[in-house]
Amino acid sequence: MLALMRVLWALLMLAAGEAAGQSVAVSGLRTEHAENPLGVDTPSPRLSWLIQSSRRGEVQSAYQVLVADSEERLRAGQGNLWDSGKVPSSRSVLVPYGGKPLASRQRCYWKVRVWGKDGQPSPYSAPAWWEMGLLSPRDWTAEWIGYPAGWNGRALYLRRDFELDKPVRSARAYIAGLGYYELRLNGRKVGDHVLDPGVTDYSKRILYSTYDVTNYLRSGRNAVGIIAGNGWYGMPKALLQLEVTFQDGSRQTVVTRGMRGDWSAGGWRATSGPIGMNSIYDGEEYDARREKPGWDSPDPPAVKLSLDRTERWATAMPVEPPGGRMVSQSMEPIRVVESLKPRSVRQPKPGIYVFDSGQNLAGWAELRVRGPRGARVTLRFAENLNDDGTVNQDNLRKAAATDTYIPNAGEEEVWEPRFTYHGFRYVQVEGFPGAPTPDNITIKAVRSDVLPNGVFECSSPLLNRIQKMVWWTEASNLHSIPTDCPQRDERMGWLNDLTVRLEESVYNFHLARFYAKFLDDVRDTQAADGSITDTAPFRWGRRPADPVSASYLLLAWTLYEHYGDTRPMAKHFDGFKAWVDFLDGMAKENILSYGSWGDWSPPVQFGVPGSIGAGARSKDTPLELTSTGYLYYSMRLLARMAGVLGKKAEAERYEVRARAVEEAFNRRFWNEQTGGYGANNQAANSLALFLGVVPKERIPRVAANLANDVRKHDNHLTTGNLCTKYLLEMLTEHGHAGAAFDVASQETYPSWGFMLARGATTLWERWEHATGAQMNSHNHPMMGSVSSWFYKYLAGIRVDPRGPGFRRFIIRPYPVEGLTWARGEYQSPYGLIRCAWKREGSEFRMSVSAPPNSTATVFVPVRGAQTVTEGGRPAERAEGLRFLRREPDAVVYEAGSGEYEFVVR
Ligand code: BGC
Repeated sequence: MLALMRVLWALLMLAAGEAAGQSVAVSGLRTEHAENPLGVDTPSPRLSWLIQSSRRGEVQSAYQVLVADSEERLRAGQGNLWDSGKVPSSRSVLVPYGGKPLASRQRCYWKVRVWGKDGQPSPYSAPAWWEMGLLSPRDWTAEWIGYPAGWNGRALYLRRDFELDKPVRSARAYIAGLGYYELRLNGRKVGDHVLDPGVTDYSKRILYSTYDVTNYLRSGRNAVGIIAGNGWYGMPKALLQLEVTFQDGSRQTVVTRGMRGDWSAGGWRATSGPIGMNSIYDGEEYDARREKPGWDSPDPPAVKLSLDRTERWATAMPVEPPGGRMVSQSMEPIRVVESLKPRSVRQPKPGIYVFDSGQNLAGWAELRVRGPRGARVTLRFAENLNDDGTVNQDNLRKAAATDTYIPNAGEEEVWEPRFTYHGFRYVQVEGFPGAPTPDNITIKAVRSDVLPNGVFECSSPLLNRIQKMVWWTEASNLHSIPTDCPQRDERMGWLNDLTVRLEESVYNFHLARFYAKFLDDVRDTQAADGSITDTAPFRWGRRPADPVSASYLLLAWTLYEHYGDTRPMAKHFDGFKAWVDFLDGMAKENILSYGSWGDWSPPVQFGVPGSIGAGARSKDTPLELTSTGYLYYSMRLLARMAGVLGKKAEAERYEVRARAVEEAFNRRFWNEQTGGYGANNQAANSLALFLGVVPKERIPRVAANLANDVRKHDNHLTTGNLCTKYLLEMLTEHGHAGAAFDVASQETYPSWGFMLARGATTLWERWEHATGAQMNSHNHPMMGSVSSWFYKYLAGIRVDPRGPGFRRFIIRPYPVEGLTWARGEYQSPYGLIRCAWKREGSEFRMSVSAPPNSTATVFVPVRGAQTVTEGGRPAERAEGLRFLRREPDAVVYEAGSGEYEFVVR
């Protein structure tokens, strides 16, 4: 709704502007990739905006940014914090603030105008703002509190009353509660975050959230409550700083503070309550009989009685801080993003009801139940059913994934858990009084609330279903880190999976902030010797990480390519270097042979029988091949980043090292007899092609080998989590797009279609259909790179390294025989990019749209001597287009912003 209003506003401005002779307008103001963020903790926030123009080839020739410390000043056109003046520059994404130094808590209002290609200025944009967070450790006067004895795995309830004796102008709450918290003021939950804060290694970094709580407070007596659960931490504790500014400008701060000698000192009380056992893996128990009505309102009777030990409100204590730095949580919080009605409810056995949400996802169920007091309703979550229709939790391994609710009175009670989440499609309800109907359960989808970023659709219903399946899988696994799965006793940020998952995820979701945060998580695992770990935060897997974890560097590279952000790359360059040097140091004669997973989890007949992960290690793709390949890949990435950052010596050094590894790779793995690498299998050949280590003259042979192998396997893949991506991409890029399409649209084992045929709504971890106790999650993004192939090769929307952040991009669809049309949309930092093509009789039509201030290189597919028109006239004469060249299968144009309709005859 809000987005729609903004678009309408922008159009209105544009219309008004045009009436006044102005042809450009500005909207979509963002600070550090976010709209009007609180808690910005970089001293020079970067500002971005979108330009609207109905003209083709629109570019920004200059901009002017005004930043003021009050709305009034900004309205009056005074940039008293920063007036950039008219800057002759086309930069409209991530322009660093260049004004007066900013202090903690400072609120900054800003607007911008731009000059278009004709040198005419736009009107100023609507105002936007950002607010600084707490920049220095000295800003924190609160201390961590808890109750050291704890209540045995139960959630901790903390509260205090406080007096505000003047009218409030504004108020902020800065809070971190570990593992998770819920903040309450005067009886209401503050904000809409759940499972907050995002997980980190708490001994290194703790994310605090900032809330505007002005409307939660009143003059007079107030109460603040915090519920802290175990989350990923296990010892509930909290840190809160509530800062109130009164209308007269004076200030008052309420902070967490524990008892010191004098029991009344802090005023904070601690107790346990209705939330008992709470565990991410096992679930949550809620006993409504233990609720303390009014505990989070001022002067509740129960708390007044606290000196009477029967109510068991103890005095909160100072506790050991978790150890890490306080860092503002600048990524999107986790929220309930969608509510679904169960599709059906069945009763497989007396008293056992199974709800089917119709979609495997991450989240929980809200329960609606009426008494009786003390009944025990359990909700068991699972991805699979047993033959008898009850839930099958075998593949959750040790995760109990069970919530329990004990009603209080005879009234209807509505409850949802706070400190757990589940990966599930089915909910089995037991102990429900009477027979539940679908109305008794609401399914809540829960994830990091990042914006969906892309659309892909085509004439194949099967591919559309695959796209939907990947989307839901990715959505289920964005939980403040990119988790491997949302259901079993794992949910870790695996770096091997991420290496190929990254691109799929950024086509589907806007992850600029999410991945900048996760990059810090990876850095936090790095040891003095440069090694990183398989998972971040490090809980599982090995140190050193498998060398296939190029995702460490790829995170920064992706943030650069997709969002034009160079800061993560600069910030982590030394870390990348240390990791690459570490790998290099482990190599012997430029061959790196250690590794753990390699091209993990291929179809089981291509796995080492009985190896870890139930035969998930490839038997044909040796670890030294993948490890050496990724050593090369990481060196190349490092060299390229050094180039971007202007570190010439390093760029050269790693380029030279990469060439040595490339040579060794060819020496060791090339087989002149077979014309392939390693076992001449799909994984080895596609990886070699993808890395670009195959000498030019060999490429056709290797590519043909790859395609033949696909045909030999009756159009099936033999690859695991990594090389599946390269298989599709390399077939497509080397003249075998049809073979790639056949693999992607396969319906028999092993394939995505096979998963769908067996009822999957999210991707499996294995190509096999398994439901037993071995490794077989049914919601695993690592096989999802087919979705980035859809965007990049069927819809044809691709980054162009010459213009990071889609400043420049490439449109190059491969209209494979099996499709009659395809279309893609991608929300870039410059605005919406679109490409849609269809075949109509002997005609091929393609519409492309490029946002203002961006430039596309458009490959219009042609056959033989076909000609291309745009808007009814020869394309080379169309406004905004520049003919570049004719290739055997495409005519190539450079296109400025605008909408283009190409027709090929
Ligand atoms: C994870 C996978 C990962 C693998 C590596 C599994 O437990 O779920 O995503 O690739 O470990 O061993």
